[in-house]
Amino acid sequence: MKNFLLSSSILSADFSRLGEDVKKVIDAGSDWIHFDVMDNHYVPNLTMGPMILKSLRDYNINVPIDVHLMAKPVDDLIPKFAKAGADFITFHPESSNHIDRTLKLIKDNGCKAGLAFNPSTSLNFLDYIIDKLDLILLMSVNPGFGNQSFLSSTFKKIREVRKWIKLNSLDILLEVDGGIKLENISEIASYGANVFVIGSGIFDHSDYYKIIKDIRRKLKLSSSKFLY
Ligand code: DX5
Ligand code: ZN
Repeated sequence: MKNFLLSSSILSADFSRLGEDVKKVIDAGSDWIHFDVMDNHYVPNLTMGPMILKSLRDYNINVPIDVHLMAKPVDDLIPKFAKAGADFITFHPESSNHIDRTLKLIKDNGCKAGLAFNPSTSLNFLDYIIDKLDLILLMSVNPGFGNQSFLSSTFKKIREVRKWIKLNSLDILLEVDGGIKLENISEIASYGANVFVIGSGIFDHSDYYKIIKDIRRKLKLSSSKFLY
């Protein structure tokens, strides 16, 4: 059985009682918490800053927090999110003038580093820095909003990145973000993803325990048919 991780995107959580809702999803079995940072500049939406991350840590949220920066520029934000309690910090190559330097900044601040690719962003950005990454995030929707439909052009990209990771025996997590639901998660996994960001696909259900259990069962049942 392959090792799959579920990262619940709190963009779809109930913000009027965020700590409680996040605790509930973790108790229901979510491995990680996905924390979407939007600046109304890099993407047309505005969400959360490091203060909110810190308040989740203060509320005893202890699982890994996977910060997804959809902001430009990013370098100033990195030490702030690291200090607030991030484990992973992922940014988009278009948002940094010096990708290699930004990756180093993340590591120097004690976090694991990820690079995120929009549906239209070329994987060429990986050429000279792939060995410095802990995580590659493939966006399967255009960034900015929850509850959009999964773009099937992502499949080819997942397969390509998985091939590259395998060929070079790299220890890199392959995360997919956007439009993942119970109905399509097996197919997404079959191309080689192993971390699944799920927002509305979990938070829009009243019973988090049941939906997470159903998702894991689906992954387990189909994992023998995977293409990699
Ligand atoms: C979109 C965000 C996603 C979003 C996913 O820009 O990066 O993390 O929350 O939401 P769903 O799972 O509802 O598509
Ligand atoms: Zn995200």
